[in-house]
Amino acid sequence: MIKKAIIPAAGYGTRSLPITKVVPKEMFPIGVKPAIQYVVEEALDSGIEEILIVVSRTKNIIVDYFDHSQELESFLEKKNKSHLINDQSIPNVQLHYTRQPFARGLGDAVRLGETFAKGEPFAVLLPDDIVIAEETPALKQLMNIYDQTKNSVIGLNEVKREELKNYGVATGRYIAKQVVKMNDIVEKPTTDPGSNLAVIGRYIFTPTIFTYLNSIEPGVGGEYQLTDAIKCLFEKEKVYGKIVNGKRYDIGKEDEYIQLVNHYYNSTHGKQ
Ligand code: G1P
Repeated sequence: MIKKAIIPAAGYGTRSLPITKVVPKEMFPIGVKPAIQYVVEEALDSGIEEILIVVSRTKNIIVDYFDHSQELESFLEKKNKSHLINDQSIPNVQLHYTRQPFARGLGDAVRLGETFAKGEPFAVLLPDDIVIAEETPALKQLMNIYDQTKNSVIGLNEVKREELKNYGVATGRYIAKQVVKMNDIVEKPTTDPGSNLAVIGRYIFTPTIFTYLNSIEPGVGGEYQLTDAIKCLFEKEKVYGKIVNGKRYDIGKEDEYIQLVNHYYNSTHGKQ
């Protein structure tokens, strides 16, 4: 059973400047809730009991958001509006935080979760990918494969060829409908990777991944890439890919962010 999840939320969000100068991408509103809350809820709906959020110096707003606001509560009480206090922002899960002191990439951020994972398998959810799944939450879909294989499982989805350069891209052999045994992965390929399976921001790792996160060299963009550690993992263990059922929205892309906000509005206001 996977009970722990790491949510890396320390990036600069450069694709979404200038707003990310002051508003972290993870706090972009989708309706009245920030993006990261949807990811925390997905983790909870999948059975996660402890979450480590990796923040950076400029992300204190995330820590504040998931906490009580005494000031707001006493204000509402004084105004006889206590009924508004029902604070949906405080999730029913133990949250831990750590800071990534240097912007060294996703691989470095996940590496900081080594003591949190304590030698157990764990999940990683990237909060800029919001997956609207009809039935089973995206992470739970990966957990179901983990339960059968006890190996690492990477969330994938099929994207258009011209989009592949923006993602980690996996190749592998289908062993079931929507499940591949992976044999290669490349971060942001510059040549045809021979596959259209892009990594979506959902992962389950055995603790072996830390061996490689501790030994990789900087890769694409001069950053420590999680993808490079996954590639090393193939040498030691099997790694599976699960094509996730559901629609993925990358909130770092303006068009997908707007589509997601529309989707949320329509689904909460009864429109199709
Ligand atoms: C990261 C990963 C990439 C993955 C993507 C999913 O890239 O490095 O492999 O496909 O998330 O969103 P980033 O979006 O940080 O450039």
